[in-house]
Amino acid sequence: MNKKKRIIVLFTALICFIAAELYAQKDISLKEVFKDYFLIGTAVNHFQLSGNDTLAVSIVKDQFNTVTAENELKWEPVHPRLNVYNFEPADLFVEFGKKNNMFMVGHTLLWHNQTPAWVFKNDQGESADRETLLKRMHEHIQKVAGRYKAQINGWDVVNEALDEDGTLRQSQWMKIIGEDYIAKAFQYANEADPEAELYYNDFSLENKPKRDGAVRLIKKLQSQGIKIDGVGLQGHYKMDWPSAAQLDSTIKEFAAIGIKVMITELDIDVLPYKDISAEITLTMDNQDKYDPYKNGLPDSAQKSLAERYSDLFKVLVQNKNTVDRVTFWGVTDKESWLNYWPIPGRKNYPLLFDREGKPKQAFDAVVKTSKIN
Ligand code: G3I
Repeated sequence: MNKKKRIIVLFTALICFIAAELYAQKDISLKEVFKDYFLIGTAVNHFQLSGNDTLAVSIVKDQFNTVTAENELKWEPVHPRLNVYNFEPADLFVEFGKKNNMFMVGHTLLWHNQTPAWVFKNDQGESADRETLLKRMHEHIQKVAGRYKAQINGWDVVNEALDEDGTLRQSQWMKIIGEDYIAKAFQYANEADPEAELYYNDFSLENKPKRDGAVRLIKKLQSQGIKIDGVGLQGHYKMDWPSAAQLDSTIKEFAAIGIKVMITELDIDVLPYKDISAEITLTMDNQDKYDPYKNGLPDSAQKSLAERYSDLFKVLVQNKNTVDRVTFWGVTDKESWLNYWPIPGRKNYPLLFDREGKPKQAFDAVVKTSKIN
């Protein structure tokens, strides 16, 4: 073979190799890879549900077997005014889940955030009393969880009820009703859909004081005979928090009290930060030093993110008998909330698919962890 022919053969082989790699990569599906371990899913947003983001939708269909509504079922969009419900966006979510045969998670019946001010006020515009608020909560849960009875499979009944020290957050729910608002919410949800799984969902539960608070809260519900099926560790992680050991012990501690454990809002923030929590009320000023990857994530940072995902997923795989579900908070880096919080307009890279919908090194690293045991 002359030199020219050899070059052509080598070049053709190289093209075939690249094509095969690309095809093989496209063919890898997280839901297949982890099918014997746990459900794997993503949050979906209105842009996707209304059919405007076809790229993300095709990734969701190929890769995931469970979906969570990122915003559509929160009080503000679904019940914006007294006696006014808007179910259109939430109906799209449920149609999407049904059509694609996915486990659907309703997020969330009760939260301190994204709840309109009127909910906590009486006719005179003063603070509502306990009875009024309990009645409103009951009606809301009946209407929302009741509408999707036997369709939405699990509900984040109460979201983020704890402070970092493990005491109950002084939300309007807590101030007006008192601490039994949590038990009431779970009872009402169970009444609205007895078959649905019911979860308590929060961030930073990997930190001991808050985790202890959650364990106390869950044990109390259990001792009162109130149905609670699982705890959601939101999983808004950083490059250096939590440690793999912290995640492992957190999963084991919740498993020991007899409930399902799930990672419900997974993403890894690669940008510099000051606070470690996912507290939505925190904001920061925009400064260049907090937005270092405006022009793309360098290869070294891609690699570190892949290693970080690998370390955390190894823990999830090792705890596969306890971990019931792992849900990412978004499909591609483009639509992640971390581009807007705590500083609006930064470029973040927290997920497994890049802005063009291509799997990142982190995707491959996650897939590899499925083979560790
Ligand atoms: O839909 C309205 C739109 O009509 C309006 O024009 C626009 C103007 O700002 O706002 C749109 O609503 C935004 C909504 O996202 C939908 O995009 C809200 O302002 C914005 O605050 C909201 O942010 C969401 C945030 O929760 C607050 O609800 C994020 O998308 C969502 O990712 C984030 O998710 C939370 C979980 O629910 C709980 N755990 C923490 C997690 C991250 O904060």
